[in-house]
Amino acid sequence: MKSAPPVGENSEKGEKVQAMFDSIAGRYDLLNRVLSMGVDRGWRTTATQEVLANNPKDVLDVATGTGDFALTIKKIRPTTNVIGSDFAANMLEIAREKAVKQQLEIRFEQGDALNLPYPDASFDAISCSFGFRNFADFKRGLEEFYRVLRPGGRCVILEFPPPPDNLLGQVYGLYFRHVLPFVGGIISGRPEAYRYLPESVIAFPKPEVLVKLMLEVGFEARFQVLTAGLAAIHVGVKKALY
Ligand SMILES: C[S@@+](CC[C@H](N)C(=O)[O-])C[C@H]1O[C@@H](n2cnc3c(N)ncnc32)[C@H](O)[C@@H]1O
Repeated sequence: MKSAPPVGENSEKGEKVQAMFDSIAGRYDLLNRVLSMGVDRGWRTTATQEVLANNPKDVLDVATGTGDFALTIKKIRPTTNVIGSDFAANMLEIAREKAVKQQLEIRFEQGDALNLPYPDASFDAISCSFGFRNFADFKRGLEEFYRVLRPGGRCVILEFPPPPDNLLGQVYGLYFRHVLPFVGGIISGRPEAYRYLPESVIAFPKPEVLVKLMLEVGFEARFQVLTAGLAAIHVGVKKALY
């Protein structure tokens, strides 16, 4: 994979995104730690609390990658059944190794988020951290989340919105556009993957736009921005039946 996937919504995106993550899987965790400088930890904790808020029995972590979010959920709430799903086989391989090492029982299964291989109403909660931005069709992704959730179930999408229009946003924009692609390119040997990252963030809908789409799909929805708008949590609840 030498060319970066297209950003925004694009029907040719899926295969290229899959190939890109398969190609950087071995370095993904290291790069995450170096490039985020640990800032994402607090965001992930807040998102985990949202996922566990309705005491879910069955949780699906979509676009689970190397599995950190799924592993955290299982660690915090061991009685929850957790499945991690992703279409990149090499990312899942690493997730499985981590689960074995940490003695956590999680099923990591290959699947496309736009065509989830699960029956309707299978889960009480869905999490998706830093994966949604990569989908080829955002509405289709939300419709799949809605379909596999049980009534009253919730989806929690943690993402990078476009950089905020303030001083922090400008500093962050510089880091994101210049430092991150440079360092990421060197460590991963795949500069195109780390050019794709900032471009995909800039092309991603603002939280209020994504929430509007969630409402259209049928969710009750809200968002919360974190660290002055560097990240956002979008929460959708599938209305309960009366
Ligand atoms: C940036 S990683 C995020 C991984 C993990 N959730 C985390 O927080 O570190 C994005 C992941 O989304 C997956 N992904 C993107 N589009 C997908 C799709 N349509 N179906 C399944 N997985 C997808 C990629 O394979 C990749 O592993």
